[in-house]
Amino acid sequence: MAEQRDLFKDIISHAKEYGFVFQSSEIYDGLSSVYDYGQNGVELKKNIREYWWKSMVQMHENIVGLDAAIFMHPTVWKASGHVDAFNDPLIDNKDSKKRYRADVLIEDHIAKIEAKIEKEVEKSRARFGESFDETMYRSTNPRVMENQKKIDDINTRFKKALEENNLDDVKQIIIDLEIVCPISGTRNWTDVRQFNLMFSTSIGSVSEEANTIYLRPETAQGIFVNFLNVKKTGRMKIPFGIAQTGKAFRNEIVARQFIFRMREFEQMEMQFFIRPGTEEKWYSFWKEQRIKWHQALGISEKKYRFHDHLKLAHYAKAACDIEFEFPFGFKELEGIHSRSDFDLSSHGKFSGKKLQYFDPELNESYVPYVIETSIGLDRMFLAVFSSSLKTEKLEDGSERTVLSLPPCLSPVKVVVLPLLNKDGLPEKGMEIFNQLKTSHLCHYEEKDTIGKRYRRHDAIGTPFCITIDHQTLQDDTVTIRERDTMKQERIAVSEVLKIVSEKVNMNRVLEKIV
Ligand code: GAP
Repeated sequence: MAEQRDLFKDIISHAKEYGFVFQSSEIYDGLSSVYDYGQNGVELKKNIREYWWKSMVQMHENIVGLDAAIFMHPTVWKASGHVDAFNDPLIDNKDSKKRYRADVLIEDHIAKIEAKIEKEVEKSRARFGESFDETMYRSTNPRVMENQKKIDDINTRFKKALEENNLDDVKQIIIDLEIVCPISGTRNWTDVRQFNLMFSTSIGSVSEEANTIYLRPETAQGIFVNFLNVKKTGRMKIPFGIAQTGKAFRNEIVARQFIFRMREFEQMEMQFFIRPGTEEKWYSFWKEQRIKWHQALGISEKKYRFHDHLKLAHYAKAACDIEFEFPFGFKELEGIHSRSDFDLSSHGKFSGKKLQYFDPELNESYVPYVIETSIGLDRMFLAVFSSSLKTEKLEDGSERTVLSLPPCLSPVKVVVLPLLNKDGLPEKGMEIFNQLKTSHLCHYEEKDTIGKRYRRHDAIGTPFCITIDHQTLQDDTVTIRERDTMKQERIAVSEVLKIVSEKVNMNRVLEKIV
């Protein structure tokens, strides 16, 4: 646990030190759970967004993009159910005066039992080696079975309490599980209350009522209210999807864990409109597509798992998360939701417009069903960043910190480094920089020793360093150093662009998910 905390602290300070993520308004002591992306962070974020956008919009003939406004008519949020049901159950500890999400306290408790099970399993795996049968072990070992039963019982009771909106029982579960406040260490809890997560603000308008508007808590509603516009102008035929990336806002009760849970964040969402009755097929299809998208990046498959939702959001008929092993354990990275016709039907009722599709094959009109894929861009950033950051021991006994990002996501693709700041080397360096800069984000650096410059670029994940020396002036060759292997090779200047372009080409990753 302490090790996990240290690792996470290292990740946060690395993100700051190397210009990836800064606390918002830092000179005024910051604003809680709001972050700014620095010169390298903005590039990494842009590249992740591009990877998502290409995989959705460019690679599907039946998916188109959209950029809806953040401000929307207030009735949108009445129709979507967010005004009445976008709540989190909160609980306060009377001694520490700290506020928690009741469901998170229970989930953290379950995670501790899960960790005990994993420890048992790993111990036995180490003991039995190759012959270890994990499924058999989990279903026969008394300690593992006992702990698994505890988890199942808590889940069943918790699910029932949530379904019945029985907040007294949610509190009773916390008491029965003897959950203590991590700060005060006491069990002196208030009652559980519901808290709406939407931020409201006002807009100049004629009527009093229309003055209050909300900052969108999800980008999805901008897609639903544009269903008719896109269907008509894009001549879309079901099944089809609308994809969008953009900011969303939630007044999170417990906003912590760096950029994992923010009050202002970015979502990448796609709503796939389908014929009713085909939802199971498309739900499985999108689960498979989305996990492929993650795995194509080459991050260890062990870091991902599916988790079915116990508590379904007010709009969902079935839902699961793709969870990622963050430095603080497995947590939700992406949601895949079967939303039925909930949103289109509701907007139809509230707006008086027919949000329907005429299906020529069936010769009838219906309200399409929807499968949604929804991922937080900031969470994806944290997933990629945290799993790429490594400290390596080198042969000479020294250490280096390297950010082994998938090359197509790296902020800077190549850096040009004249060995010395004289003898015409800087001029030659600038000439090469100018040849590369139209194709890739390329840096040029003269300051510090070559070793320090290599380390700085290892730390921000630059896949290639190009070094210019005196030989370059004689035979037009340079040294190219690859980030992960640190191997150096002498190549012709004319080859640099080709080598770099091949390695950082996003198409190589996209090809894996076709
Ligand atoms: N339209 C469906 C929807 O918004 P969600 O599960 O509430 O579903 C989708 O959110 C994704 O948005 C999550 O899987 C997560 O990656 C991201 N997300 C949600 N709340 C967030 C927050 N406070 N900070 C950062 N990312 C968040």
